[in-house]
Amino acid sequence: MCGIVGYVGHRGALPVLINGLKHLEYRGYDSAGVLTLHNSVFEGEKKVGKIALLEQAFQHWQPAGTLGIGHTRWATHGPPSHANAHPHLSADESVAIVHNGILENYLELRHELAQAGVELRSETDSEMIAHFLQWEREAGHDLIAALQRLVPRFEGSWGLLAVARDEPHRIVAARKDSPMIVGLGENETFLASDVPAILEYTRRVIYLEEGDIVDANPSDVRILDREGREVERSVHEIQWSLEKAQKGGEPHFMRKEIKEQPQVLADTIHAYLRFDDTGVGRINFPDLTLADATLQSFDRVVIAACGTAWHAGLVAKYLIEEFARLPVECQLASELRYAEPIITPNTLVIAVTQSGETEDTKKALIRMRELGATAVCVCNVLGSSIPRECEGVIYTVAGPEIAVASTKAYTTQVAVLTLFAIHLGRVRGTLEEERASALLRELDELPAVVRETLGCDAQVEEVAKYCSFAPNFMYLGRHVHFPTALEGALKLKEITYIHAEGYPAGEMKHGPIALVDNTFPVVAMLTKGRVLSKVMSNLKEIEARNGIIIAVKTKGLEVNGAVQYTIEIPETSEALSPIVAAIPMQLLAYHVSVNRQIDPDKPRNLAKSVTVE
Ligand code: M6R
Repeated sequence: MCGIVGYVGHRGALPVLINGLKHLEYRGYDSAGVLTLHNSVFEGEKKVGKIALLEQAFQHWQPAGTLGIGHTRWATHGPPSHANAHPHLSADESVAIVHNGILENYLELRHELAQAGVELRSETDSEMIAHFLQWEREAGHDLIAALQRLVPRFEGSWGLLAVARDEPHRIVAARKDSPMIVGLGENETFLASDVPAILEYTRRVIYLEEGDIVDANPSDVRILDREGREVERSVHEIQWSLEKAQKGGEPHFMRKEIKEQPQVLADTIHAYLRFDDTGVGRINFPDLTLADATLQSFDRVVIAACGTAWHAGLVAKYLIEEFARLPVECQLASELRYAEPIITPNTLVIAVTQSGETEDTKKALIRMRELGATAVCVCNVLGSSIPRECEGVIYTVAGPEIAVASTKAYTTQVAVLTLFAIHLGRVRGTLEEERASALLRELDELPAVVRETLGCDAQVEEVAKYCSFAPNFMYLGRHVHFPTALEGALKLKEITYIHAEGYPAGEMKHGPIALVDNTFPVVAMLTKGRVLSKVMSNLKEIEARNGIIIAVKTKGLEVNGAVQYTIEIPETSEALSPIVAAIPMQLLAYHVSVNRQIDPDKPRNLAKSVTVE
């Protein structure tokens, strides 16, 4: 949840750290700090608030030094404050650390420090790491040996960097359940929690494995595995550019990412779908590695995910059940990990995750594997943790998603899950070839349809003018649009702070309709499909209670008088309509957020990747 950068090399460390933190700000932004080492003295600053405030602090003085560490925080232990911001120093100020994660045995560690008379300066669990490293060094160990001795004492998760005042060319790092990469330059080494932080300087990256410890200097990087053995890890060449991870002329990352959807959907769909000489669509998932016989052997699917990814999983439930005739449960990972699900060797578990680092999803998946399931995942980040826990993976090709509110990751997740449902239906012989082919031809055209859908932006902006200050919203959809309604409501809550509920339209009359009055915007999904007439009838019930209806409807579709505002989207088959209908949901939340003068990229209390339980 926090962002970490470290540098050791020949450049001034400060600009590298500040630039890196700016690219990691999506990981947490309640406070930030940097520290460099120069002439055996640590110099730096910490600020509560965004990186821009930290940067301002260096307008009149700039610490020198070619080694440094930096951190942008998403608070877990202790509120955002100067004292709780990282880096943290040991009592004698000989060691400095930055840490992402949670030390679960921190009470026990704290007690040990208190008994030895160490007074903690912060309320964080992280600060203790610096004190323990000091002790280990006082016992005669250099920084890397100190870290190796200390790590086995921790329980929980960590991506951490440490530097010592008397070891001016060394940064050490450790990773467990928290992402960490090493960037290799010419006589310089970078460490960071994500690639965008260092992409300005190098494209050569090592993704660390769980339990790895790193000993880095400008010209050499040694990696030790959890048994302390020196290991080689492969070096990856990053293919995407920093420009892809920047705003590209848009006012916000969220808007840029919404607008990228035609392209990333094309990249994702065409990574797996090809048409042969006879025009038949062929699906191939190269990293899935499940033979057809294995796919045929499953008698149940369990999908595990959180937030927006869970909504993508819910869409997949409808499609897999229909095309592959397999029962599907779509579970919130945070619940699944503590449940007692019925798992057999014939259960396929699919984790859906943009970041590949979500703690609940990872732990749910590991538990399902322990119970005997075959586990695969849909993931957007190469080298992240969750694919490593799986027997197969289908990557979405959405590129870096920076805005906290997930947009392009969602539609690409739904797209690959749709392809997977079709593939499964074909392999199991439960989906007629004619229907499969028609769906694949439509998927091939989908990026163009999504481009056309983005044309509803002006209509959405108008609607947003009217409803940006409503106290509550309701989103209604049925069948494949029940998840669309949930996703619309989540987007709005996240970035506008307006209370919103997503509901199956047919369920309204069982309670929530009591909420409806003439101050209550109801966003309803009206696209062609099996439940269209049913949703129309449900809207009549809202109209009778003076609710204000905003219809997201298929172009050209006649709706009756009930509707006050319409947003039109192109016609698709029912199966593909969730991808297209997601676009106005994203745009509506975006415009309302901007109208309310909220930064949609960095909504309060949230972080992009939730690596804590
Ligand atoms: O990285 P993941 O897909 O595993 O993240 C899951 C959720 O935390 C994420 O989708 C969250 O709900 C988004 N902020 C929603 O916009």
